[in-house]
Amino acid sequence: MSEKMWQGRFEQPTDSLVEDYTGSIHFDRRLYRYDIQGSIAHCRMLGECGIIPHEEAAQIIQALGEILREIERGELRLDAAQEDIHMAVEQRLIQKIGEAGGKLHTARSRNDQVALDTRLYVRDVILDCRRLLLQTVGILSDMAEKHIHVIMPGYTHLQHAQPVLLSHHLMAYAEMFLRDEERMAQCYQRTNVLPLGSAALAGTTFPINMEMTARALGFPRVTRNSMDAVSDRDYLIEFCAASALVMMHVSRLAEELVLWSTTEFAFVDISDAFCTGSSIMPQKKNPDVPELMRGKTARVYGNLMALLTLVKGLPLTYNRDLQEDKEPVFDTADTVCRTLAVLNKMLPEIRFREDRMSAVAGQGYALATEVADYLVRKGVAFRKAHHVVGQLVQYCEKAGKDFTECTVEELRKFHKALDADLFPFLTLQSAVDRRTSPGGTSSQRVREAIGAVRHETMRRLETVDADAPRVS
Ligand code: ARG
Repeated sequence: MSEKMWQGRFEQPTDSLVEDYTGSIHFDRRLYRYDIQGSIAHCRMLGECGIIPHEEAAQIIQALGEILREIERGELRLDAAQEDIHMAVEQRLIQKIGEAGGKLHTARSRNDQVALDTRLYVRDVILDCRRLLLQTVGILSDMAEKHIHVIMPGYTHLQHAQPVLLSHHLMAYAEMFLRDEERMAQCYQRTNVLPLGSAALAGTTFPINMEMTARALGFPRVTRNSMDAVSDRDYLIEFCAASALVMMHVSRLAEELVLWSTTEFAFVDISDAFCTGSSIMPQKKNPDVPELMRGKTARVYGNLMALLTLVKGLPLTYNRDLQEDKEPVFDTADTVCRTLAVLNKMLPEIRFREDRMSAVAGQGYALATEVADYLVRKGVAFRKAHHVVGQLVQYCEKAGKDFTECTVEELRKFHKALDADLFPFLTLQSAVDRRTSPGGTSSQRVREAIGAVRHETMRRLETVDADAPRVS
């Protein structure tokens, strides 16, 4: 059991069970790069502001660089006795350069330090997520373009509703992921604020220059209230909330792929590389990847709930409870990034059974709205037309035939305005292509939407690049 950095006022060493219980190094070691990066910027500022001697600042910075390399090479043991990554790095620093190393923590506390580290970490993760999401949008746009004319059943209540273009269906998901990217971008702005300099909670007596530290770490802003800065975890919660929505969208898409790959639907073939077999049934090819995407959504929701609950009852300012923020965030970041990476690999490998999709698109009287709209164009009130077509459907169902199999005489029994010029409207192509309203499923509208989404995607990619921190 080594001496603690805060040992001064204690008479007894920490109980070993307690050391285990309170330590966070086994998970916050992931932050080592950010911790060292933050310390270097802090130390440079301390030197520039004359708070510590220049030579000592230089010595500390040099040693911090060495510690970074030691950790990267696996040469530095990070163990429970050091409690957390912040103390592990500082302890090693003092071990390397002696007394001077003890000056790094001037005008700083672990409270603003950990807030800085997690902001730096989440900032990077958000940029990764944004790039992955825009890649997903690009892939969906490619798929839509490739299948621009394929007609499939459109569903409400999972019942045939009206025919739509497969490309329109795919672009619906592109819209969701574009919104997700926008949400992540907004979360990024609020994350991108420097809290270091808030110290324990009240600020510091030393003449620090937070702007200087902010510039060095690529933060456009500094926090305005030191108490808020050390207790705020909104940026983590927002990131988890944005991730929960990403996963919800992935999960809905995954569910459709599971459904569509059943024998009953048979709309898609998922490539072998993304399926697995059964240990007992030789014929099985299971859609495990989309199933796990659906499944992993649950843990991301759980992480969000954990964080919200963690913070809800905390008095200002820092409380040790906040140490529990990290694992849910790490798990969320890992899950959402890995899920998007797999999705982006799987999507282009999906084969659509176009013939099957169009063959079933007309079933279930999916063109009933066309008949009603036809009557409306002939002056019949929509409600009346709806009722007439409802009766026609009932008749056809009993007779076991489709609208197109009825004679004009049969149709007339339902309404005198029904005539032979109805038939040209009773094709899937016509039903789709006539839906030219904004956001509708006509191929003309879908083409425009793909163009607009592609344009927006390019613009957003540039924003991601512009947002990436320029660290000096
Ligand atoms: N390991 C701690 C955490 O993650 C660092 C901050 C500790 N601060 C304190 N006053 N004990 O929250």
